[in-house]
Amino acid sequence: MKLIFKNVTVVNSDGREVRDVFVDGEKIVAIFDEGEDVRVIDGTGQFLLPGVIDAHVHFREPGASHKETWETGSKAAVLGGVTTVLDMPNNNPAITTMEHLQGKRDLVKGRSYCNYGFHFGGSGNFAALEELEGSPAVKVYMGASTGDLLVDEPTAWEKIFEICERKNLPVIVHAENDDRIRERAKEFTVHTEIRDCECARIATSAAVALREKIGNKLHIAHMSCKEEVEIVRANKNENLSCEVCPHHLFFTADEMKDGFLKMNPPLRAQEDVDALWEAMKDGTVNCIATDHAPHTVEEKGVAGPPSGVPGVEFSLPLMLDAVNAGRLELEDLARLMGSEPARIFGLSGRGVVREGMVADLVLVDMDLSRVVSKDLVQSKCGWSPYEGRHLKGWPVMTIVNGEVVMEGGELAEDLTKVGKLL
Ligand code: DOR
Ligand code: ZN
Repeated sequence: MKLIFKNVTVVNSDGREVRDVFVDGEKIVAIFDEGEDVRVIDGTGQFLLPGVIDAHVHFREPGASHKETWETGSKAAVLGGVTTVLDMPNNNPAITTMEHLQGKRDLVKGRSYCNYGFHFGGSGNFAALEELEGSPAVKVYMGASTGDLLVDEPTAWEKIFEICERKNLPVIVHAENDDRIRERAKEFTVHTEIRDCECARIATSAAVALREKIGNKLHIAHMSCKEEVEIVRANKNENLSCEVCPHHLFFTADEMKDGFLKMNPPLRAQEDVDALWEAMKDGTVNCIATDHAPHTVEEKGVAGPPSGVPGVEFSLPLMLDAVNAGRLELEDLARLMGSEPARIFGLSGRGVVREGMVADLVLVDMDLSRVVSKDLVQSKCGWSPYEGRHLKGWPVMTIVNGEVVMEGGELAEDLTKVGKLL
């Protein structure tokens, strides 16, 4: 398949330029003869960005396919302009051995509409970590969350960091201090109060200090508090990175009225939200990732619901709406959702719109307005915390490995499973 985007505004982290973009097979190329089998797309007034790389999703296979399947999750992804997802290891069984990693590869093979990778779980499994190959990163749960991957032993963290340093693999931490969570659970009942910012600050500060000692690559998942922003800002270097999630940018703790907005780490105060926006702007934050964590309406609607909210399909429209509101620039999105996740997780040849790179692209209409509604939701969970929001700025075409998978807000008619294991 050959594509030409005519007269489109290409946006990368370092600027924008109106030009034609040629796609031949999987790649962006300098130029080709406009023969007969070329599809010409008029990009006048529209923007072409690197396809979104969402480095933190939970697509629930194996073990919880009633919440999400790889087909539904990856459909949701491409509908939202996402071309690559990196999936978390808190499956059943957890992805903590090479055997389980291989089993997950076999399970997902040939079933994905977007590209994908599988993070590996780090707990006491040191021998497995030594032999690990083919994961973008190792995930460590410093505080308990969904699944049973908790590691609350500093000596185990140190060993994991050392192994990953030798293997040049980033460690991703879920940074919430488990002792404090357990203590506060005796005293408080409200989720956002039990898991306060001090839980996050203690764990983030411990992880950053350990990284300073070992020298490994460290990525702080779902950073949510102003204290964490300050720690990362003060210790920033190319081996220390962090992500923020849309739910921590678009909601505050006051809005959590029931289980639907319960997640770990929880929603925070307005001053934390403001600090995250500031930190995205000044480069302290490297990536936006969704922590797409679908649970069914039935599961979320009862007392003591599981933590987690879906998000993979609306992160780009939410951020485009924020660009329209003047809060960020499109160049910031190209960095936060494209070039930085590609750099941190070693996805070479992706994350930038340039000749020679793989054609993972998203075409954006900044003037299109739509309301998020249940019937837009492709995720199997069937709901979104953003229902009812009017958003201006939507992806209108998603290209994965040179193939059009979404067009005009609809999945492509001949939608094919072009996603590759990265
Ligand atoms: O809210 C959350 N949900 N936080 C996590 O760390 C896990 C996730 C899930 O898997 O549901
Ligand atoms: Zn997660």
